[in-house]
Amino acid sequence: MSPLTTDQIRTSYLEFFAARGHAVIPSASLLPENDPTTLFTGSGMQPMLPYLLGEKHPLGKRIADSQKSFRSVDIEEVGDNRHTTFFEMLGNWSLGDYFKAEQIPWMFEWLTKELKLDPQRIFVTVFRGNDVIPRDDVSVRSWKEVFKKIGIDAMDVDLAEKNGMRNGRIFYYDEKKNWWSRAGEPAKMPVGEPGGPDSEMFWDFGAERQLHEQSAWKDRPCHVNCDCGRFLEIGNNVFMEYLKTGNGFEKLAQQNVDFGGGLERIAAALNDDPDVFLIDAFAGVRKVLEELCGKRYGAVDGETRAFRIVMDHLRACTFLTADGAPPSNKDQGYFTRRMLRRAIRFASTLGLIQNVAPRVAAAVIETYARSYPLLRQKEAMILDTFDAEEAQFRRTLMKGERELTDYLSAHDTIDGAKAFYFFETYGFPLELTQELLAERGKTIEKPASFDAARTEHQDISRTASAGKFKGGLADHSAATTKLHTATHLLNAALRKVLGDHVWQKGSNITAERLRFDFSHPDKMTPEQIAEVERLVNEAIKADLPVAYHLTTVDGAKKEGAIGVFDERYASMALSTGASEVKVYVIGHEKKRSVFSKEICGGPHVARTGMIGGFKIQKEESCGAGTRRIKAVVAGGSEEVEVAGEE
Ligand code: ALA
Repeated sequence: MSPLTTDQIRTSYLEFFAARGHAVIPSASLLPENDPTTLFTGSGMQPMLPYLLGEKHPLGKRIADSQKSFRSVDIEEVGDNRHTTFFEMLGNWSLGDYFKAEQIPWMFEWLTKELKLDPQRIFVTVFRGNDVIPRDDVSVRSWKEVFKKIGIDAMDVDLAEKNGMRNGRIFYYDEKKNWWSRAGEPAKMPVGEPGGPDSEMFWDFGAERQLHEQSAWKDRPCHVNCDCGRFLEIGNNVFMEYLKTGNGFEKLAQQNVDFGGGLERIAAALNDDPDVFLIDAFAGVRKVLEELCGKRYGAVDGETRAFRIVMDHLRACTFLTADGAPPSNKDQGYFTRRMLRRAIRFASTLGLIQNVAPRVAAAVIETYARSYPLLRQKEAMILDTFDAEEAQFRRTLMKGERELTDYLSAHDTIDGAKAFYFFETYGFPLELTQELLAERGKTIEKPASFDAARTEHQDISRTASAGKFKGGLADHSAATTKLHTATHLLNAALRKVLGDHVWQKGSNITAERLRFDFSHPDKMTPEQIAEVERLVNEAIKADLPVAYHLTTVDGAKKEGAIGVFDERYASMALSTGASEVKVYVIGHEKKRSVFSKEICGGPHVARTGMIGGFKIQKEESCGAGTRRIKAVVAGGSEEVEVAGEE
């Protein structure tokens, strides 16, 4: 019997939780909106953050989805049998509703009854506890009960990482493994960040495969968190009930569940093959690559890594480009460019020297278009972009090769640090440098300096992203909330000045500035810019009230609310709950002097006066028919009151 496809697994999961009172919502974009804390949506939980902190979700307290996710930290890890940068994360949330006693039996039921995974091969972990947060005995009891019901005596065992598994099924680990927050373990969390102990589930691919014995870890005892690949984490139940404070932790006002399960990994467990690249979702791209290069995936050891990198990276690049991050030199597009180039380099090692990216992207779109219609809508743009990017990069590579050849004629040899320079500047891989040297009967001097230079480079980028994290909602919520409300005023003012063809195309807010993309064919005149600024400042001076009410998407449209009526809302019809949305109104509805009415998740300031003053800094083109405005606010309240329900 062939295993369920990833599409079938996704549907089974969403239906299972819909039947248990969950509203099913579509995936949010890979590029977070109005969240300055991170560049990418890296888990299903990220878009849910305001609701985990207590904001009311329009669809209720039980939500489920399959969220597109991208983790840039994993770029270098890709190549083994289980790491991917892009993945789909199945998620279900209790927003102050059910907790451990429901979540654990439900997950177990879904895995073993719906997917029919063999319970004998499922192992779980729980939080060992520390000085502040107690050991998670409640989860242990729950796990014991569910296993017992089907006749398995699940023993809890501590210190498996030192002493091995000793016939245990439930294992305790510390906060490095069994604590989840966006920032990682408790010590790394900034003040204001929520988190909590978690309980992970692992699939055992079986001792008989000898994965541990053949791995670099063979001299240490194997355990579920061992990196040998025998066990694969297939899901994480986070019991998010703590908030980091200035002097430790306090309980959140509500107990939340945040479940995240890697769809591809669950498919690999069902496929009973530890190689995630062998699941059906990769079949299309695998076939295209095999046909293009005339080699078979998995046939030659040294080539498998290249196959995986090409498949993973181009799949990620396709989704990122569709969501608004085509390859470029800055922000998110930088990652797309880096991965696209990396994929092309590795494709070269498979003998592919042209047109790889658009062809693989076409296969990705074919596989996913039914679940993600946006891919089909953007298909032509994606293929054209990849085509141009690949052609340009191949020219760069040739230039790098020429410069390196020149360097080698002038110098006897090259050291690792210089090789890193060619890698960073031209994307010229170390292996190619080594090949060129080998042709001249030489080897790299001080090869370790390549890694040293790379580590230094990574530290710099990491410092930069840590800075980004610090500048986030937690510390600057007042700043971002003011800018968010200013964005609504700007959107309304643009429509008043330029006309009703103005629609939001994108919005991105950091603590320092807002960035707003909208449809408009021409460059704005200085007079138009001044008029928009004047209208926004007038609305701020009038100190208008801001409040929201709940309604349906149709209701919102009928009352004239603007907003992003995209895929997200269209497919809300999927949801089992009432498809309610929040409509934020700025102004006096009763006095018929509404300045702005917009569908939005919030949060906003309670009165526009808190914003201070508004200034447009830049108006520029951002693609055909789209303009981009960057603007700042200044002089408003240091602390703000958040807008509530009308
Ligand atoms: N938010 C949790 C994770 O990403 C479920 O692992």
